[in-house]
Amino acid sequence: MTSNGCGPEAGPTPADGTPALRIQSGADGSFSLFSNRFGEGFHGTIGALSEARAKFVRPAQLERFSAGQRLVVVDVGFGLGTNSAALLEAASGQGLTLQILGLELDPQPLRQALACAAFRRQWQPGTLAMLWALLERGGWCADGSQARLLWGDARSRVGGLLERHQLAGRCDLVLLDAFSPRRCPELWSLEFLSALARLLRPEGRLLTYCCAAAVRHSLQLAGLQLASIRPPQELGTMAPSQRIRPWSFGTAASPTALGLGSGPDCPLQPLTTMEIEHLGTRAAQPYRDPSGQAAAAVILAERQLAQAASAAASTSAWRRRWGLEGHPRTGAEPPRQPA
Ligand SMILES: C[S@@+](CC[C@H](N)C(=O)[O-])C[C@H]1O[C@@H](n2cnc3c(N)ncnc32)[C@H](O)[C@@H]1O
Repeated sequence: MTSNGCGPEAGPTPADGTPALRIQSGADGSFSLFSNRFGEGFHGTIGALSEARAKFVRPAQLERFSAGQRLVVVDVGFGLGTNSAALLEAASGQGLTLQILGLELDPQPLRQALACAAFRRQWQPGTLAMLWALLERGGWCADGSQARLLWGDARSRVGGLLERHQLAGRCDLVLLDAFSPRRCPELWSLEFLSALARLLRPEGRLLTYCCAAAVRHSLQLAGLQLASIRPPQELGTMAPSQRIRPWSFGTAASPTALGLGSGPDCPLQPLTTMEIEHLGTRAAQPYRDPSGQAAAAVILAERQLAQAASAAASTSAWRRRWGLEGHPRTGAEPPRQPA
């Protein structure tokens, strides 16, 4: 057992002895994992719980709904279930119930998290019961809420949500928490994002930590309006080494105009001139996957070719103009903890 009360690192171990997943935590000390397969952490440097609250729960603005309402939520890249679990606890505090549909390739992250006492201690008993039931039976139902995990490649599952589950135009929230586009382009393609967009109600929201221009541009091409997720004020009170003030905490997208506020308490803000200009650069070239089955390497290579042939403005020049050279990729917080 480790000091986290966790068993040995589980999961398929390749011939070189490296476990597929290893435990790590961010600045808030909450439980997270690092995927050796994808070469990336499951959560950003602020920590899993802080990220779930700042990038998914807060921008969902649950106060928009009335007590007694049931929200339909699709959680893409369910992983350890941190986002759904944090949302369930916030929703029940407001008298709301949820119908959650989780899309996830691999049961191992949830299994490994539930084997760890530190992870289990993060949750209220009812929330923990949901996570156990999802792992063991794939479904859960209590107190008016229900959840179901659809295992497999989310690209093949999303068609079933639209047709068999008849969720087209019926979802209040889509939480998109895949590994970053360069690590997992399959879940950021124009085609996949367009399918997710079709799930949304007119006032529904797709929320993601990702600020990449390719993703934002694809969401626009899918007919959605955009807002930037405002970093929360509390970041200023973090330890000095963690005191970052990124320009965006992610993206909210909706078929109709999002309620934006100028005050620091409003979780959504309009895209700044800098962010809008980003969408006119080569970085905004979408990831394409018309078959819904392409390998990551193929999606990345084809995008690179399209970028080379593109007449769009240079992203490096945009970065220089806005003083972003010191920041990896976009100037926002690096989306996930690197190796
Ligand atoms: C960044 S982690 C998600 C973290 C999670 N939302 C949480 O709060 O714990 C990304 C997840 O996407 C899953 N994933 C990767 N490729 C996928 C695919 N093609 N379809 C479905 N899930 C996928 C991974 O197994 C991983 O659990």
